[in-house]
Amino acid sequence: MHHALNRALLAGALALIAGSAAAADKIKVGFMLPYSGTYAALGNAIENGFKLYVAEQGGKLGGRELEYFKVDDESNPAKASENANRLIKRDEVDVLVGTVHSGVAMALAKAAKGSDTTLIVTNAGADAITGPMCGPGIFRTSFSNWQPGYAMGPVAAAKGHKTAVTITWKYAAGDEQMKGFREGFEKAGGKIVKDLTLPFPNVEFQPLLTEIASIKPDMVFAFFAGGGAVKFVQDYHASGLGKSIPLYGTGFLTDGTLKAQGEAAQGLLTTLHYADGLNTPRDQAFRAAYAKAYDNLQPDVYAVQGYDAAQLMQVGLQAVQGNIEDKAKFRDAMRGATIDSPRGKFTLSAAGNPVQDIYLRQVAGMENKMVEVAVQALADPARGCKL
Ligand code: BEZ
Repeated sequence: MHHALNRALLAGALALIAGSAAAADKIKVGFMLPYSGTYAALGNAIENGFKLYVAEQGGKLGGRELEYFKVDDESNPAKASENANRLIKRDEVDVLVGTVHSGVAMALAKAAKGSDTTLIVTNAGADAITGPMCGPGIFRTSFSNWQPGYAMGPVAAAKGHKTAVTITWKYAAGDEQMKGFREGFEKAGGKIVKDLTLPFPNVEFQPLLTEIASIKPDMVFAFFAGGGAVKFVQDYHASGLGKSIPLYGTGFLTDGTLKAQGEAAQGLLTTLHYADGLNTPRDQAFRAAYAKAYDNLQPDVYAVQGYDAAQLMQVGLQAVQGNIEDKAKFRDAMRGATIDSPRGKFTLSAAGNPVQDIYLRQVAGMENKMVEVAVQALADPARGCKL
């Protein structure tokens, strides 16, 4: 009797220990993403993409299960440090995955570096992250703001445009994408005659459209994304300006937004590291799996960036057989990775930013159809990065 009781107690205690060991075995992933506001759809697509890849691996990376922690960063830079520290200090995550907004991402990168937590940036293009703020634990599966902006420069000049007005939100992403475009456009002989801005995430475009009408440039180049991009493309179309002053932009202007933009977006040319109609087996398989997993939702560039963040983690974890605690080896393997992305294969620069083809795309129906590769294997110059 006594014996049986002891045995039962012992079995219970062992089960408890095994249970907590299994929990500790899970790798903690912290999603810091916008789940509300103008970028909410972008945050959700990133999470969807990440989880799709993990599901394809049977729910494990490097043989270990994942445990997710989530913070809605609201694309609010003022709350970014506090939000990042919730994941780092309270939840003690192994890897930070995020975010969309460049201003928020810079605070996130600072907190990641300060605590030596590995960070995979899944959208935000802030040049500084893989520039002056670069570090051994900082990775990006998206782009630097400079990349898609720069790529449109030679394309626009080749179309015969000599003068351009730029229009964007006044914060790092807008500033830097316009700067990239300026560099590419001026190098090809073009001239920017005016930079127009409004505060993020405002959508009162009318006064600025009136100014464009009076300047009469050869073209307009814009960065907006999410809900703001929907409104801008609609307003530009409604103004009638497009008939004489064609609108161009980085691909965020029309990615994940076409359903809402409809007629207003037709024919627009943009540059980005992803496109519809790539027609590779890799991309087709990804798109079919995404639509199946998410109720026929079509993937966009944000979903691809999230998917590739999980792929990158998998490369690192396989190199250490799931032992993420071996940080240096985990990170080295990620830095040396070649990612078989739906966008096409890419490698990471020394600074941790994708070296990737930038596509010229044109809106046709509900697709950003690939027209051509605008710039092949474009590497961010990583100005200011010292490793
Ligand atoms: C950014 O803030 O870096 C950003 C946001 C949305 C789309 C692209 C870039």
